[in-house]
Amino acid sequence: MTNLSNYIDHQMEDILILGIESSCDETSASICKNGKILSNIIASQEIHTKYGGVVPELASRVHMENIVPVVDAAIQEAGIHLHDINAIAFTQSPGLIGALLVGSGFAKSLSLSLAIPLIEVHHMQAHVLSNLIGEEMPQFPFLCLTVSGGHTQIVLCESPLSMKILGETMDDAAGEAFDKSAKLLGLPYPGGPLIDKYAQDGDPLRFHFPEPQIEGLDFSFSGVKTSILYFLQKQTKLDPDFIQNNIKDICASIQHTIVNILTHKLKKASLETGIKTICIAGGVAANKGLRKGIQEMATKYKWKVHIPKMEHCTDNAAMIAITGYYKFQAKEFSPLSVSASARASW
Ligand code: KG4
Ligand code: ZN
Repeated sequence: MTNLSNYIDHQMEDILILGIESSCDETSASICKNGKILSNIIASQEIHTKYGGVVPELASRVHMENIVPVVDAAIQEAGIHLHDINAIAFTQSPGLIGALLVGSGFAKSLSLSLAIPLIEVHHMQAHVLSNLIGEEMPQFPFLCLTVSGGHTQIVLCESPLSMKILGETMDDAAGEAFDKSAKLLGLPYPGGPLIDKYAQDGDPLRFHFPEPQIEGLDFSFSGVKTSILYFLQKQTKLDPDFIQNNIKDICASIQHTIVNILTHKLKKASLETGIKTICIAGGVAANKGLRKGIQEMATKYKWKVHIPKMEHCTDNAAMIAITGYYKFQAKEFSPLSVSASARASW
C-alpha cells in the first residue's frame, strides 16, 4: 500500500474514477472526472423476467459476460484511456454475493494490473450520494429516502462521507411491496412500474388497506401485503373477474397506501430533525404517486426537494463512481484483500 499512497500524494490535475456496480441484476460502469460523470453504461438483465424475480446464479453469469464490454464502453464514451484512471471504486456490499464477486474480482484485478488504488463502496451510501451528481446539489445536511427493491431507509446525510440511518424497513422493502402486490394481481416482474401505470387512471380511495403503526422512523410492509392478499382472495371468490374489472382502482389504492407509509415517516423525520432539504433515491423514486406525494408535502412544509435523474435512481455505476471520488479525496482506500459481502452494516 505504500506505493499507492505515494501515488496519490503528488498533486494531480484531474481525478478520474472508474465505478463498477454489480450488486443485483444491472452490470454498470461509469467514469467520473473531478466529481462530474462522463459516462454511465448500464446493461440490464432481461433474463429474470420469465422467472418472476432475480435468479442469483443467472445474474452472476450474465455479469461475467457483461463486465468487460460494459467497462470498455464506459471508457470509450468518456473519451479517456484506461491508463488515465486514477482509482477503481466498486460495490462491495450489500447484494447478491455471486454478483458482487464478479464486480469486486474485476475491480481488484484491474487495480493490481494498473497499480492504482481500490475503493470499496457501500451500495446504500452510493444511492444517497446519487443526489450529488449533476449541477444542482442539495445542501447539507439533508434527509434521503432511499427506496429500492431491496431497501427502504431514511438517512441523515451531514456530508458526503458522514451519514446516519434514522429508520429502515423491518421486513419487505418498498419496491418489494410493489412487486409482491403486483404478483398477487398476476402482473409480471418487476411489477412496480405497472402498478404505477394502472394507478394513474384509478381511484386511490376506492379500497382501503391499513397503514401499519410502527414506532419511530422504521417501516413495515409485510402487513399491507397480507391485507392485500386476503382482500383479493375474498373478492375473487365473489367475482372471479374482480381483478381484471378493477385493476386501475386496486393499483391506485395499493400505491396510495405504500406512498402514505413512506411520506408519513419522511414527514416525521423532517419534523424531528428540523431538516427541510429532502432527497429521494432508489428505483421506487420513479413512482409518480411518490413524487406527487413528496411534492405536496414540500409545498405544505416548505421542503426543498431534490430528485436525481431516473438513470441515477435505479442501480447504476455513476453513484459508485461519485462515492469513489469523495472517498478518494479522503484517501479512504481498500487493500486487495477486501472481500465482497452480501450483508454489511454501514
Ligand atoms: O433501485 P432499483 O433499480 O434496484 C434495487 O436496488 O432494488 O429498484 C428496483 C425496484 C423494483 O422493486 C421496482 O419494481 C421498483 O424499484 N420500481 C418502481 C417503479 N419503478 C421501479 N416501483 C413503483 N413505481 C415505479 N414507477
Ligand atoms: Zn440499489
